[in-house]
Amino acid sequence: MNYPPRPTWAEIDLKALRHNLDQARKFSLPGQRLLCVVKADAYGHGAVPVARALECCGITDFAVATLEEALELREAGLYQKLLVLGGCFPGQEEAFIRNELMPALFDEATAERLQAEAMRLGLKARVHLKVDSGMGRVGFLPDQLQAFLPRLKELDALEISGFMSHLACADDLASGVTAAQQQRFDGMLGMLRENGIEPADIHLNNSAGLSGWGRESCTMARPGIMLYGGLPGPEFSDRLDLQPVMHLRSCIAQLRQLPAGSGISYGHTFRAERDMTVAVLPIGYADGFNRLFSNCGQAILKGQVIPLVGRVCMDWILFDVSPVPDAAIGDCVTLLGSADGESFTGDDWAERLGTISYEVFCRIGKRVPRRYLPVK
Ligand SMILES: Cc1ncc(COP(=O)(O)O)c(C=O)c1O
Repeated sequence: MNYPPRPTWAEIDLKALRHNLDQARKFSLPGQRLLCVVKADAYGHGAVPVARALECCGITDFAVATLEEALELREAGLYQKLLVLGGCFPGQEEAFIRNELMPALFDEATAERLQAEAMRLGLKARVHLKVDSGMGRVGFLPDQLQAFLPRLKELDALEISGFMSHLACADDLASGVTAAQQQRFDGMLGMLRENGIEPADIHLNNSAGLSGWGRESCTMARPGIMLYGGLPGPEFSDRLDLQPVMHLRSCIAQLRQLPAGSGISYGHTFRAERDMTVAVLPIGYADGFNRLFSNCGQAILKGQVIPLVGRVCMDWILFDVSPVPDAAIGDCVTLLGSADGESFTGDDWAERLGTISYEVFCRIGKRVPRRYLPVK
């Protein structure tokens, strides 16, 4: 049956994505490629349409977090190089090899399992060797790598297509950690080369690294957040000219004329001090509109900023629209992104919520349909 959806949606502006990609390209050194990070459903923007749009812009390298995310892209017809940052868990080896997916390889046991499966299938297992240069999360530490190298050289069904690490503090341009990580990264790459292993690709930088800490020795960088219009950190606003890609919008479902003294929403945490007009929108915390916005959120209606009143509910939020006398049922309200020259970016939300724009975007729920504005 065909019926219109609830009027709440996230508009995904693929032209803005291309603009942000061009920004990322401005920072890559000659010959360097961008390995675009489209994990977590492209940070909530929709992995398949985003990857397709990036592919149209000439991108040939992509990264996701899990095997499932990678298979979703393969099933949608994306046959470009695909790195799975979360690695290959026991039992996933055949799926990785048959679908030509490259796991980040960060432990010996996985290397052995991939070798055995690749031998059984008569195929190669391509991997990106991941080292811990200071992130303190996953990856071979220098001593572990040194100890593993003799065995790694014997694993002839493994192809070391890439060598990678991840930066911990690149968003802090004054931190000494990044230079130390770069040094350790180069040192471990040197160990590999001394053992006759030359990976085709070498990559370290995320968005912050790419735009803040250029690296000549790398063949690629791995930007994520900057593609979606989020700053890697507050210090990057001067150097990056990014556009929001996601615009979260909802239409007024009801207008209430409330007399002074009325309590609004759960707990009556807001009480009208004067007669007011309240607009009710069909979106709530179940859609990723954070409950911490209770009594302090803002939105854009007809070019005016309107304040959220009362508690955010699971499926509804309310705004004081008294300053917009011609507000009407069906009017479009912008909660995240821009409209009429006003905007609330992912970074604005993040600052108010005490988090990062990454989480803001990822939390916009599955219940919110994505509508795509074409890349051209
Ligand atoms: C290993 C790895 N590389 C690259 C990225 C992209 O980072 P950013 O979104 O900060 O550019 C991430 C994201 O968390 C990551 O985990």
